Amino acid sequence: MTEQSTVTLTTATPVTLPDAQTVTEVEHYTDRLFRFRVTRPASLRFRSGEFVMIGLMGDPDPVTGKQKPLLRAYSIASPAWDETLQFYSIKVEDGPLTSKLQHIKPGDQVILRPKPVGTLVHDALTPAKRIWFFSTGTGIAPFASLLREPETYERFEKVILTHSCRDLAELKFGQELIEETKNDILVGEDAQSKLIYYPTTTRETSAKMGRITTLLENGALFADLGISDFNAENDRAMVCGSMGLNTFLRPMAFAREPIPILATM
Ligand SMILES: Cc1cc2nc3c(=O)[nH]c(=O)nc-3n(C[C@H](O)[C@H](O)[C@H](O)COP(=O)(O)OP(=O)(O)OC[C@H]3O[C@@H](n4cnc5c(N)ncnc54)[C@H](O)[C@@H]3O)c2cc1C
Ligand SMILES: NC(=O)c1ccc[n+]([C@@H]2O[C@H](COP(=O)([O-])OP(=O)(O)OC[C@H]3O[C@@H](n4cnc5c(N)ncnc54)[C@H](OP(=O)(O)O)[C@@H]3O)[C@@H](O)[C@H]2O)c1
Repeated sequence: MTEQSTVTLTTATPVTLPDAQTVTEVEHYTDRLFRFRVTRPASLRFRSGEFVMIGLMGDPDPVTGKQKPLLRAYSIASPAWDETLQFYSIKVEDGPLTSKLQHIKPGDQVILRPKPVGTLVHDALTPAKRIWFFSTGTGIAPFASLLREPETYERFEKVILTHSCRDLAELKFGQELIEETKNDILVGEDAQSKLIYYPTTTRETSAKMGRITTLLENGALFADLGISDFNAENDRAMVCGSMGLNTFLRPMAFAREPIPILATM
């Protein structure tokens, strides 16, 4: 299921929310996942890989009638040079924010606190040959920013993105990202020679099945890609996704051959 809608900015409604930005594009992938774009505040500067707080106004307090912003952390899923800001979101059925956020349409407003922060940034890693981006589910979001960042290809000879999802429909955002990156005017040529994409599914049959943790543990990842195991001098890694992924990858990478890892969930 892919529904997409866009709006020209001239039709947007007037600003009423604090730190409001206008939704310009929404695409639903499944009943659990969607992406959207919002206008970028002229003053917003961020480093590719960082996250911001975004949200909507909460329901009125039953006693006072007052409304408070309902905010959550979201990785910016577009590079620092982009004119608009993209986000890739889960839809949690009873989630305070996403039960509402999933209904936004072009022209609507979302709150975006203009204070980007985060640890999945280039400054945090020393130079090496390969950079690994390990992701599950919406954890691909910060890498959607870093994959389109020229510095990624300036600093590394190989850029390896692994993305594990439940089923094939959940891989679509990543597949589109890889296609766009390889056709990108800024990074396309480098991505074609340096970027390796390793998608896996865990609950639906696909070309490659299994949790990335299992595929690492049994060596299938390295065998499939025809590349060598982790090496402290050659490799750096960033991890984003489920808590289990983070807790597994850290000690495992260190147990084999210590490599610098930045992890977030
Ligand atoms: C630094 C950081 C960056 C984040 N970036 C993103 C992002 O780019 N995209 C995104 O969708 N979420 C992201 N999240 C999670 C996000 O902040 C919210 O938790 C999510 O939007 C759900 O909000 P909610 O209020 O609906 O439900 P919450 O009350 O926040 O969550 C309810 C439950 O839903 C589950 N859940 C929450 N988020 C996810 C998720 N992304 N995938 C699978 N299960 C989840 C958890 O079990 C959680 O306990 C990030 C979190 C952190 C800490
Ligand atoms: N910090 C950030 O910038 C940022 C950005 C975006 C998202 N996030 C976080 O990313 C998380 C996404 O959740 P999720 O990935 O669990 O989503 P999910 O959609 O529930 O799961 C996605 C995939 O992860 C696999 N998985 C679950 N536990 C695993 C484990 N212990 N080891 C290896 N693979 C595992 C699942 O396999 P099975 O089918 O076998 O369960 C599934 O294939 C959320 O917690 C969200 O807050 C953080």
